[in-house]
Amino acid sequence: MTTDDQIHLARTHLASARHVTVLTGAGISADSGVPTFRGTDGLWRTFRAEDLATPEAFERDPRLVWEWYNWRRELIATKQPNPAHIALVELERRRPDTFWLITQNVDGLHRTAGSQRLSEIHGNIWKVRCTGCGIISENREVPLPILPTCRLCQALLRPHIVWFGESLLGEDLRRCDQALRNCDLLLVIGTSGIVYPAAGFASVAKEVGALVIEINLDSTPQSDLVDLSLQGRAKDLVPLLL
Ligand code: OAD
Repeated sequence: MTTDDQIHLARTHLASARHVTVLTGAGISADSGVPTFRGTDGLWRTFRAEDLATPEAFERDPRLVWEWYNWRRELIATKQPNPAHIALVELERRRPDTFWLITQNVDGLHRTAGSQRLSEIHGNIWKVRCTGCGIISENREVPLPILPTCRLCQALLRPHIVWFGESLLGEDLRRCDQALRNCDLLLVIGTSGIVYPAAGFASVAKEVGALVIEINLDSTPQSDLVDLSLQGRAKDLVPLLL
């Protein structure tokens, strides 16, 4: 099948699907200039996740962890949503009650684009959480003073991010499970498909009989499982599906 045929088929499936769920990863924001984690210029090629994105790393050296997140906040603050983020807002607008977006991205670009029905399962780089009183608040200060402390109880703040070794929020897991079990079509965009639980979401959707379409620059461990695998840039392909 040619790429044009694949796109035509994906459009037809999407147009006839009632419940649509979308899972996104770093690849969708790569087109906005946000680095991915595992690509050639990926963050985990230069930095060690164990030193920067675990609760142990934060306990050992909160300054180092905050400096890294501060650097990422500065970088992301200059980036804008791209046509793929915007196309997903339109998809939501067309199915206000039967659409859910699950993102592993912490950059907040889906929200900036206008998506509202979404779960940010790995957290959000623009939110901070108090290690003392647990309060979560939005914080867009760039750069942040290091080390940032809670206005209410003066304890240390941490990024509101799900780090390696931490569990997703129960509420997010429930919402995602519901969106996956109810969908007729799952669109998987720009994720390497190796970090769980998101890496298992395509299988859950397949189990309930949903059609799964993947959009990625390359093939992934999920490509053999999905019904249709479209290779190319998210910013070019996602708008073509509408
Ligand atoms: P990865 O960096 O692992 O994978 C990015 C995927 O996007 C790869 O499969 C690329 O082929 C694809 N890609 C790159 N550019 C693209 C483009 N322009 N269009 C379409 N696809 C493109 O990122 P994730 O799968 O999101 O966790 O990583 C999952 C999690 O691992 C992240 O949420 C992060 C990381 O550790 C936390 O930060 C908690």
